[in-house]
Amino acid sequence: MKNAAMDETPLYTALKEYAAEDIAHFDVPGHKKRLPLDGSDPFWSEIVKYDANSTKELDMLSNPGGIIAKAEKLMAQAYGADEAYMLVNGSTFGVQAMILAACGPKEKIILPRNIHKSAINGVILSGSIPIFIEPEIDYDYGIANGLTVESVKKVLAEHNDAKALFIVHPTYYGAVSDMSSIIKLCHAHKVAVLVDEAHGAHFPFYPDFPKGAMALGADMSAVSLHKTGGSLTQSSVLLFNRGLYQSHQVRTAINLMQTTSASYLLLASLDLARKNLAVQGRQRFTALMKYIEEAKREINSIPGMSVLDRSCINGAGIYDYDETKFVIKVNALGLSGFEAYDMLKNEYNVQAELAETYVVLAIAAVGDDKKTLDRLVDALRGISKRFWGKKPAFIVPVADFFEKPKAVIPPREAYFSPAKVLPLSEAVGEISSESIMIYPPGIPLIVPGERITEKVVAHYEFYKTQHCVLMSDEERSGFIKVVRE
Ligand SMILES: Cc1ncc(COP(=O)(O)O)c(C=O)c1O
Repeated sequence: MKNAAMDETPLYTALKEYAAEDIAHFDVPGHKKRLPLDGSDPFWSEIVKYDANSTKELDMLSNPGGIIAKAEKLMAQAYGADEAYMLVNGSTFGVQAMILAACGPKEKIILPRNIHKSAINGVILSGSIPIFIEPEIDYDYGIANGLTVESVKKVLAEHNDAKALFIVHPTYYGAVSDMSSIIKLCHAHKVAVLVDEAHGAHFPFYPDFPKGAMALGADMSAVSLHKTGGSLTQSSVLLFNRGLYQSHQVRTAINLMQTTSASYLLLASLDLARKNLAVQGRQRFTALMKYIEEAKREINSIPGMSVLDRSCINGAGIYDYDETKFVIKVNALGLSGFEAYDMLKNEYNVQAELAETYVVLAIAAVGDDKKTLDRLVDALRGISKRFWGKKPAFIVPVADFFEKPKAVIPPREAYFSPAKVLPLSEAVGEISSESIMIYPPGIPLIVPGERITEKVVAHYEFYKTQHCVLMSDEERSGFIKVVRE
């Protein structure tokens, strides 16, 4: 990205200058940049210097007019958006703010069922009515991919009063839908396109990556720069293009829920990450893509393993593919993805992003190079050597896992209904008033308002056998909160 201003870091630079000043602080935060008082912990002493309150010099995230406004303008420019709003509670918050800005109570929002729980929570908060659309499924890898244009066409014909379509770009596993056609189609129906771009922060910075949502004309997008863009964990941006909505509607939704004490460490990291991506991204990704291609070729030659690459593009649910994702299929070794994930960490000190039934997902990003990728490939080779040909393939009824329960009442109604708690095994036929999922990825097995089926219970029981981290509102494992009908 050739733009002199991209070299600038207005927010980070001002914060550094502010930290260097000799100020007698009678504002918060209460550490007053002096803790620990005995100087015994250099790490803490260093970070408190940059942990500041909103002031005239440092601007204010909820009503920016100074350095934050400047940094947000550069962010918007880098992503090809009309506006950018920095966030300090991840894309979880960005997704919820987008939905709140776009949809009111009883208004319809079209969503794929393989969404992160933040989208369901956004639906609960807004009181909107979800119209679920099934993504394309890859039963061989046991993963859900993107949406087909045909399925979007069909749902728009049935629900031409929908306010918005929510889409994940890319999915956790790297699948990219035909965004350009879907956006055009939605806009022809005056339906806004809200994008969960949590895993696509790197897209605009290398020409061979799939295009970013803003450049394609989406209305809003939540981007986790902390995931693949290099900023600190929890920092994200909400991007906005004018058209169907006005910027004050987005700002109002953000200010409804975001803290009035945003962390400057997180904000400055967004400013720095944007600079790095815009100034050095192309060069870094050019080198990284070469290593990624080599690593994928090697993994595909390891007995009992395969990894998704661009050859999986099928013009439908995988219209394009994000090569930085390593979806590594291991079940031919007689292992579940969960077992391989634990082995990678416990025996090879390689931390993958997540596991699913047949696969492990490893994510490459700006911070990687040949050395780090070699460690992944070596560990995978080690696992294959130990298990290839020794056990039958690990096979479970994944098709059942993708059969989603029917929505009976809106999520908000289910969430606020009087509830009772039952053992999950006794809850078949009941309406759930909570979401249950493994984390990561945080894609719910059931969401509030859906009727619990035997297949949901079997899926949950399977995850238990794999020692996954199961998340629900109910404190007792194996129990679920259901609507008292
Ligand atoms: C698809 C998807 N959307 C949204 C989120 C939420 O993003 P964040 O962690 O930035 O809050 C996640 C987090 O993993 C995700 O996987």
